[in-house]
Parts: sequence; structure tokens; C-alpha cells
Amino acid sequence: MFDVETIRKDFPVLERQVHGRPVVYLNSAATAQKPRVVIDAISRFYETCNSNVHRGVDALSEEATEAFESARARIARFVGADPRGLVFTRNATEAFNIIAYSYARPFLGPGDILLSTQMEHHANIVPWQLVQPLAGFDLRFVPVTPDGLLDLEAFDEIVATGRVKLFTVTHMSNVVGTINPVAELAARVRAANPEAVVAVDGAQSVPHMPVDLLALDADFLCFSGHKMCGPAGIGALAGKPELLDRMPPFLGGGEMISNVTLEGTTFNEVPYKFEAGTPATAEAVGLGVAVDYLSALGMADVRAHEVELLGAALPALEAVDGVTVHGPHDPEDRGAAISFAVEGLHPHDIGTIMDREGVMVRAGHHCAKPLVRVLGAAATTRASFYLYSTAGEIGALVDAIEATKRFFDR
Ligand SMILES: Cc1ncc(COP(=O)(O)O)c(C=O)c1O
Repeated sequence: MFDVETIRKDFPVLERQVHGRPVVYLNSAATAQKPRVVIDAISRFYETCNSNVHRGVDALSEEATEAFESARARIARFVGADPRGLVFTRNATEAFNIIAYSYARPFLGPGDILLSTQMEHHANIVPWQLVQPLAGFDLRFVPVTPDGLLDLEAFDEIVATGRVKLFTVTHMSNVVGTINPVAELAARVRAANPEAVVAVDGAQSVPHMPVDLLALDADFLCFSGHKMCGPAGIGALAGKPELLDRMPPFLGGGEMISNVTLEGTTFNEVPYKFEAGTPATAEAVGLGVAVDYLSALGMADVRAHEVELLGAALPALEAVDGVTVHGPHDPEDRGAAISFAVEGLHPHDIGTIMDREGVMVRAGHHCAKPLVRVLGAAATTRASFYLYSTAGEIGALVDAIEATKRFFDR
């Protein structure tokens, strides 16, 4: 049974007061809070078996390696991936950089199109811009309509060229919440070019809904631990092992080698080929416990809870005079990150005054400047919900917006 009041007791930080009021944390799209089991797992790792993984023959090293590899297996299962295709990274950003430097750069060239979209976080734009001059492919972006949806006619036109060799798209927008029909888009890309590869930004979807690499028909899935109840500093690139196998390494150094002589190096098997250096071990273990926690709650129930919150939050916000909500209006079509504008007020002013009311939201471009420009703004205010968010917090959000309007005499 999904009981949000019981769940909240798992998150120590939610007991805090801010400016003399209970904290109303509506910034989970930026980073999620951590349950006690994750915090404890990290301490326990350091207290009981801290050692370097894959290196020692001693008991501590064996235990650390076992904890690390068990976390990999559980995280892989969580997203329907083969553990051999689950590369630990620092975050989603690093996962995209691996695809850019180890796939786009060596496998795409002049005449090929790398197709991204205008809806993306900078993590799914800038890496392609960095490698484009080195590889010579055409970098194109699917436009976004003012209501926050991909322009599918424009998508189809680009795809019809048959030249799209890498298509990359966010599963769930961190700004407008839009859930994209990834499997359907992937099918269209593959129909026009059977050699095409599909990369998915799961940074917002993996924490909030059931996600399965194969059901998405994706070759790569990038996500970050800190947005899904895990620690910062750990994330993953989930991919098909045979594809990762064909790719050259990204970073060089220890762990990723099979043999080294001064004349040259042979590389380790996947996923280790992409994990140079000592990994963020306690963080990986912590993320393993975070996915256990999410799995025990049930991702379908997490999603259902957020859909219910959206069903209350969207009309409540729209009922406030002067408020415009960006993105889809049907809760089923979107995630729980809600960007909005308040007529005559700057998002940073809104965020600052709301903080005084104990309500934490995010104001800015949310690392998605091209998308925010489509909305006709330089910035938005964003309230984002998670599994521990409550209907009462929606009320607090609306009250804080009203208080902000009064403060600025609007
Ligand atoms: C949709 C999306 N993609 C990618 C990222 C990048 O995540 P990270 O900064 O953890 O690498 C974020 C973070 O906000 C995001 O929301």
C-alpha cells in the first residue's frame, strides 16, 4: 500500500523546518531527497568493508567488489538491462559524453545526421556540439511546439531522409514534463534507417515511472542516481553489451585494461572498458539500495501517486489569477515537473519569496535554454513533485504563490 505519510518518515530531511516552517521540498527534478536506508548503506559500506574493488585478494576487497557488482546487477534489472551493459558513470551527463566520444565520433561522419531535439537538457545537446566538428556529421534538432510537444511533422521530414544515424531524445522533460513516445519515435527512425541507434535521456523518467530499455526500443539509456533517491556522483549508461563492445573506450587508465605494454594496450571487457579508475563505490552501493527501495514501493505506484498529485496541482495552479502552466495539461501525458509563469513577476523573485514561506522551487532556465526560449521566456519557475510529495504541499505551493503576488502587489 502506497502511504505517503509513512513514506515521508523514511526521509530525515523532510522533518526539517526552514524559516520556522516545515520544509516543502518541490525541487526533486533537480535532486531527490534520500531515504534513511540509502544514507545508512553508505555509512555501513565505509564502516564495514571499505576497500578498492576488483583489485585485492583480501576479504574486504572481495566484500566491496561483491557489494559493488550486486548493486550493478540490481540497477541493471531495474531498467531492464543486461548487467554487462550497465556502465557506472558519475551522472547522466557523463553517460551522454561516453556516447558522444565513443559512438558518435567514431561511427558518424559526413552525410550522417545526429538528431536531437529542442526539448533537451544541455547534457543532451552540448556533448554533440563538442564532437560535431571532429566527426563532421550534421547536427539537427526536432523543433518543439509552443505547447511543449515535439513537432512530429518536422521529425518525420528529417527521418525520411534515411540519414539519421543517431537519434537522441528525452523520455520526460525536466522543464515542461512532456513524456515522449520514445518507442514509437525509435521505430520510425529504424524504419527509415535500420542501422540507426537510439539514445534516451532517462534522467527524469527512470526515477518517476517504470522504464525498460527494451520496451523503449533504445540502444542507450542515461540516468543519474541523485534524482532517484540515490547519492550524487553515481549514474549509469545502460546499453546493449554488443554495441558497447564495438565502441572504443572513453577514458583511459586503470581498471579498463586487459594488458598494457609500453607499445600499446588491450582493453577489458564491457562494462569495465568504460570504467577507468577507482569507481564511486559507496555511491554505487547506495544507488543499489535506492533501487531496492523504489522497487519495494513499486514504480507503477510511484507513477500513480504522481499522476494523482498532477491531477490536483495542474487545476490548482491554473486557477490562480495570472498563472500560466507550461507543457501538457493531461497528467497522463506528463511527469511531475511543472513549470509556470506568473504574470508580471520574475521567476527568481518568485523563488526567493516562496523560500521565505518554506516552499523550495527552482527558478531559471533548468539547463534547457533552447526549450525555455520556445516558451517565450528567459526563465520559468518550476515546482517538481516526487514519491514523498503530498496534496497538502500543493496547497502550500498555491498559498506561497498568492503570498508572492501580494508581496509584489500583483
Ligand atoms: C532531463 C535531464 N537530463 C539530464 C540531466 C543531467 O543530469 P546530471 O546533472 O545528473 O548529469 C538532467 C538534470 O537535471 C535532466 O533533468
